[in-house]
This record gives sequence, C-alpha cells and structure tokens, in this order.
Amino acid sequence: MTKFSIAVTEGDGIGPEITAEVIKVLKKVGETDRIEVEFVDAPSGGAAYKKYGNALPDDTLKIYRDCDAIFKAPVGVPDLPPGLIEHEAILRARQELDLYVNLRPAKIYPGMENLSPLKDRVIAKGFDVTIVRENSEGLYSRRGTKTADRATDESVFTKRGVDRIIRFAFDYARKAGKTKVTSVDKANILFTSQYWRSRFEEIKKEYPGFETESIYVDAMSQYLIRCPERYQVVVTDNMFGDILSDETAQIIGSLGLCAGANLNPETKTGMFEPIHGSAPDIAGKGIANPISAILSAAMMLDFLGQAKSASKVEAAVQKALADGCRTGDIAQGMPWLPTSKFGDEVAKRI
Ligand code: IPM
Ligand code: MG
Repeated sequence: MTKFSIAVTEGDGIGPEITAEVIKVLKKVGETDRIEVEFVDAPSGGAAYKKYGNALPDDTLKIYRDCDAIFKAPVGVPDLPPGLIEHEAILRARQELDLYVNLRPAKIYPGMENLSPLKDRVIAKGFDVTIVRENSEGLYSRRGTKTADRATDESVFTKRGVDRIIRFAFDYARKAGKTKVTSVDKANILFTSQYWRSRFEEIKKEYPGFETESIYVDAMSQYLIRCPERYQVVVTDNMFGDILSDETAQIIGSLGLCAGANLNPETKTGMFEPIHGSAPDIAGKGIANPISAILSAAMMLDFLGQAKSASKVEAAVQKALADGCRTGDIAQGMPWLPTSKFGDEVAKRI
C-alpha cells in the first residue's frame, strides 16, 4: 500500500464543490490502485482571510510544506479588494514554496472538437500544446513604484531563474515523448527577452535531438489559432505564460477543462490547481464543472510517481465525455449533469 498526505485547500466560490469531486475520484483510484490518501484541510483564500485575517495562514503554509502534494481549489471572493487574495493566497504560496514551474497542458479530446472556436480544418490536425510558464520572477517580482503621476514594474530575469525553467521544459518534453520545444519572448523590444533568448540558445545545446524555435509573443498568439499543430511544448516567461495559457485554455473550449500545476521538481513540491477562478456567481448551485480540478489531481498523481493511476483518471474523464456526460457550461444543447453526478460518472469509469 502506497501512502500519501495531500494538503487540500477547498478555496472559495465553487471551490468546495469541485474539491468534493476531486476527493471522490482520488478515493476511488486509491481503492483500485492500493493508494492510501490522507487529506489534510489547509484553509487559504477569501474565507480564510475573513476567519484568520490572513489569506495564507502560517499553519496552512506549514501543512503545504509537510504534505506530499497540495491540491488547491480556486480562491477569491467578490467583497474583498481586488488583488488582495491573489497576492496573498496565490502568488505568496508560489513564492514561499519556490514553485518556479507553472505547467498547463491543453488538448482537444476526441468528441470535444465542437467546443473549440478553431476552424475544423485546423482542429483536424490536432491540438496538444503544453505551456511551461516561468512562475517565480519576471513581471511578477512585485518590484516597482506607484505615485499619482507615474507607475513602474520591474521585470526581473536571473540566470538561475531562466535556466531552470528552460531546462525543465526540455526535461518535461523528453519525458512526455515530445520532439519540439518552442520558446516565446519579445526579443525585438525587451532586454529581458533578449537575455531569455540567449539563455534558450545556450541551453538547447544540452538537449540535442529536439527541434527548437524562438517566436515573438505577438506572433505566437496568432500561430496558436492558425497553425497550432506546429507546437508541442512552449516555454515562456511569467507574464507571457499567463496570457498564452488562457488562450490555449479557450482554444480547447473552456477554462473548465484545463488543468494546472505549480512545481518545484528539486524540492519535490507540487501545488495542483484548476486554472479557472472561484466563479462566485454560480457557487453553491451544484453546476460547476469539476473537470479542470479532476485533471489537476491526475497531474498530482503523476507527480507523486503514480503515472498509471494518473492516466486512469484522465482516461475516465475522457471516457465520461465520450459517453456524452456533460456539465452545463459545455453542454451545447445536450442534457447535462450537476457537478456531483458528473464526478460520479468519472469515478465509475476508473
Ligand atoms: C493564473 C492567474 C493568476 C496569475 C492570478 C489570479 C494572480 O491568472 O494562475 O494564471 O496571474 O498567475
Ligand atoms: Mg492567468
């Protein structure tokens, strides 16, 4: 019997509803694959802020550090100043745990093509793009100034920070059996991007056998729509990765389908979170889409060395969709299931 402890932040809004489905699915796969999972409550976000005066309490941070992995549902409430929870609960967790990799795979599953805004002839060539986003520096360094007539943001790129994320992208590509790594920057304008590009040119020499390419971010935003079949693993900085990963999520049809992971492979720390928000407008109605959360949990299993169980969970989601199970947001006229029933259908197929 393999044992894992998972820190669980059920978050705000639809967070608790989708977290319940994640726990259901993990319990099920635990039974079939002889994995014992202990879930440790780790409050963070808007509800935690209201209760403890801190969106990321020290106790939670300790639980995050002590557990084998972290599952984090979306956080954010409408009645607190915008940005407060984002900074405390999300960015601080990434910084404190040095989760320098933000990994966001996006693929169009067979049968789900109609959700994508792309043209049929483009989809026919397949869409399977993973954004590897630098998650610890760049424009997210929080260095800058703001006065009444002027504001600045300092974008910080260090050799250590840039090199480690580019190496991760190649290592990930190799492990996933991919053949191409694309780097995205704005080297025609930004010093930071010129530095990034020079590091990419240098590091790619350590990985012979890969096809590589450097592309400007504005061009990339077009190519992802026009010729996405050219891309497999895309490595980029924090800001560009934030933007492009929303684009890839929308291309596969919905933020509700796209999983995400924040990782530090050296310290073996991983925080797994759906990439969508807490959607307070539909909270408590039982209509949220748990797919992104469940697929994030699959990434967590993979990170914990349980690749077979991870594939099982992903396959169960795919099978449920192929069998016509839908949630409201992706129903497009088909009958659809409430959150918990959809989770049942996934669990059943494990
Ligand atoms: C994301 C989000 C966050 C980010 C926000 C909520 C701070 O957009 O995870 O992509 O900008 O990184
Ligand atoms: Mg974002």
